[in-house]
Amino acid sequence: MTAGGAGASSGHLPVLYAQVMDGLAVKAEGTYLDGTFGRGGHARGVLAQLGPGGRLLLMDKDPEAIAVAEREFGADPRVAIRRGSFADLAHWDATDGGLDGVLFDLGVSSPQLDVAERGFSFGRDGPLDMRMDPDTGESAAQWLARANEREIADVLFLYGEERQSRRIARAIVARRAETPLLRTAQLADLIASVLPRGDSKIHPATRSFQAIRIFINRELADLETGLDAAHARLKPGGRLAVISFHSLEDRIVKQFIARHAKAPPVNRRMPVVPDFTPTLAAVGDARKGDADEIASNPRARSAVLRIAEKLGEVA
Ligand SMILES: C[S@@+](CC[C@H](N)C(=O)[O-])C[C@H]1O[C@@H](n2cnc3c(N)ncnc32)[C@H](O)[C@@H]1O
Repeated sequence: MTAGGAGASSGHLPVLYAQVMDGLAVKAEGTYLDGTFGRGGHARGVLAQLGPGGRLLLMDKDPEAIAVAEREFGADPRVAIRRGSFADLAHWDATDGGLDGVLFDLGVSSPQLDVAERGFSFGRDGPLDMRMDPDTGESAAQWLARANEREIADVLFLYGEERQSRRIARAIVARRAETPLLRTAQLADLIASVLPRGDSKIHPATRSFQAIRIFINRELADLETGLDAAHARLKPGGRLAVISFHSLEDRIVKQFIARHAKAPPVNRRMPVVPDFTPTLAAVGDARKGDADEIASNPRARSAVLRIAEKLGEVA
C-alpha cells in the first residue's frame, strides 16, 4: 500500500493506490465506476473525494466482494452496487448518464487467493474451483475432467505461456483416467512431478494455475468487452485506469489505448487514407510500484497501471 491506509483492515492492500487516485483525478460531483471492487481499497479512496452530488458505481463478479460492498457502502446514497462482470457495465442503467472515471484492477484479490475453498491457490489445498463467480460456468475441476489433451495444452500455452504445456496436458489426461482431479494440491503436485526441476524460485504450477484461472473466468474476453464498454460510457475528460498483472492483459490495454489514440499506419497500397479522429489520449507512461510498495505488498511486483483520457467537447 502506498497511501492512506485504505483497505488494510480488509486483508487486501490496494496496489498503486496513490497513482490510481492521481490518474482518476476525481471530480467531487462526478460519477465513477469501480468494475473490480474486491475489498474496496480503491473504491474507498474515490468515495472519500466525492461530494454529495457524486456517484460511485461498484461491480464485482464475486458474491463475497459484493457482500462486503453492501455491508460497507450499501447505506450511502451516492453508491450503487451490482454483482456481475464489468464486461456488462453498459447494460447497467446506472451508467446511462455517462462516467467521469472507470477503474479495472484486474485479476484475483488477496482474499480469493487466501481462502483455500475458492481453489485459486496451488499453495493451499482446496477444491479445484477457481471461479470468481462460483454460481456461473464450469469449475476448473469440471473443465479438466472433460477437455481433451489438445485443449488443455492450448490453454496452458496461450494463457500461461507454459512451454511444457503438452507434457502437462498429457499427464493430466493420464492421471484423470485413474482418479478424478478434484483438489488444487493434486494438480499442483502432478505438475511439479512432470516438470524438470529448474533453479527457478517460482512454483512449477504457477503458470498453469494462472492459465486455467484466466480461461475459466474468461478474463481476456471480459477485458476486451469491458474496455469497449468503458470507452462508450466515458464522458469527454473522463479517465480510464487499468491495472494489469501480466503481459497478456497489459498488451490488450496498451493496444486498446493506442488504437483509439493514434492513427493506424498508412497503407501505401490503399488509395484513400481513412479518416481518423482520436477518442482517447494516453495520460503519461505505464506506471509501476516503487521499491517500498513492492517490499510491503508482493502483488505490486507485477502490477502495471495505464491511464487514458476520453477526448471530445467537455459539456
Ligand atoms: C485485484 S482485485 C481488486 C481489488 C480492489 N481494487 C481493492 O482495492 O480491494 C480484483 C477483483 O476483481 C474481480 N473481477 C475480476 N474480473 C472481473 C470482471 N470481469 N468483472 C467484475 N469483477 C471482476 C475479482 O472478483 C476481484 O474481486
